[in-house]
Amino acid sequence: MDTKVLIFKENNIEKDKLREVAEVIRNGGLVAFPTETVYGLGANAFDENAVEKIFIAKGRPQDNPLIVHISQLDDIFPLVKEIPSSAKMLMDNFWPGPITFILNKETCIPYKTSAGLETIGIRMPSDPLARALIKEVGVPIAAPSANLSGKPSPTDINRCIEDLEGKVDCIIGGSNSEVGLESTIVDCTVEPPCVLRPGAITIEMIRKIQPEAYIDPALLNKADQNFKPKAPGMKYKHYAPKASVIIIKGEINKTVEKINEIVQNYIDDGIKVGIMATDETKTYYKKGEVISLGSRSDLTSIGRNLFGVLRTFDDLGVEYIISEAFEEKEYGLAIMNRLNKAAGYNIISL
Ligand code: TXA
Ligand code: MG
Repeated sequence: MDTKVLIFKENNIEKDKLREVAEVIRNGGLVAFPTETVYGLGANAFDENAVEKIFIAKGRPQDNPLIVHISQLDDIFPLVKEIPSSAKMLMDNFWPGPITFILNKETCIPYKTSAGLETIGIRMPSDPLARALIKEVGVPIAAPSANLSGKPSPTDINRCIEDLEGKVDCIIGGSNSEVGLESTIVDCTVEPPCVLRPGAITIEMIRKIQPEAYIDPALLNKADQNFKPKAPGMKYKHYAPKASVIIIKGEINKTVEKINEIVQNYIDDGIKVGIMATDETKTYYKKGEVISLGSRSDLTSIGRNLFGVLRTFDDLGVEYIISEAFEEKEYGLAIMNRLNKAAGYNIISL
């Protein structure tokens, strides 16, 4: 299949180009498009055959439901049975933005989209191009992240092209994803609401609106296989680069010392190794491929860069990536959730 790539400039969403892309989705095709979290791979959420193509293009397990994207609040009402007041308050505070709500679905959402579940995840993204596209299409867009299943989610158009060229009808974009990690997912079919996947809207932010909100215990007992996460996708090996990732957890000076020791051992054995560092520590690593995720004082930059850096290490052909850790609170919880999965919970605690 020929994949058409269309670049849109920020602040100038050309109408005729957008119409052409919307037509692709209306005709049952697949379009990868940018959102503020990560790029998504979209299809008409009401069209089973189109949605089926998403699963095939990504190599996605059939039991992993998709998130449905809307462009304005009114568009949610036909899609769900009811909106509990807790969900409504969270929507009023955080939409449009990087947060998805799980609600009981109406019959217009096919089981193909919800992967057989009676519930559906809905998100109103803030990215202007995403919003304009959904609006132009005129139907909600079902979209998982636009990566091949198991790989880190794409946060720029080139990573999308790398994964999906030849597999989808069209890839659009231009600007990089501002957030860089997938949306926070909140299950609002239960009371109080439960966070199934941490993201840029943190549990601390959610609790300011819904004080009883809690995090799916399976996320906090992560290495323990007895806890089954409630979001089907959270159980899969995920965000994984080709290289093996090892996380070093501990006081920062000791972490640097330990990483240098491990790197030296690998180099002595003739193995190419990468170090995922931060602005505060990068000059303390003298050997190996060193890339900083950003400053520890600005976790949003760490989140924005994480998936891109994991993919860059694969480009460099390192066999191991040794990473520093971050405190698992506030936004650090989402960052460590992705990093822990990339590492398959291969963690050395000092
Ligand atoms: O930021 C995002 O959410 C991006 C952009 C494109 O919007 N999308 C995204 O989709 O990350 P995906 O498919 O890669 O991840 C969706 C996650 C999966 O872990 C899935 O299991 C969970 O959401 N999920 C979707 N519907 C669900 C439901 N009804 N109940 C529980 N979990 C659900
Ligand atoms: Mg994904």
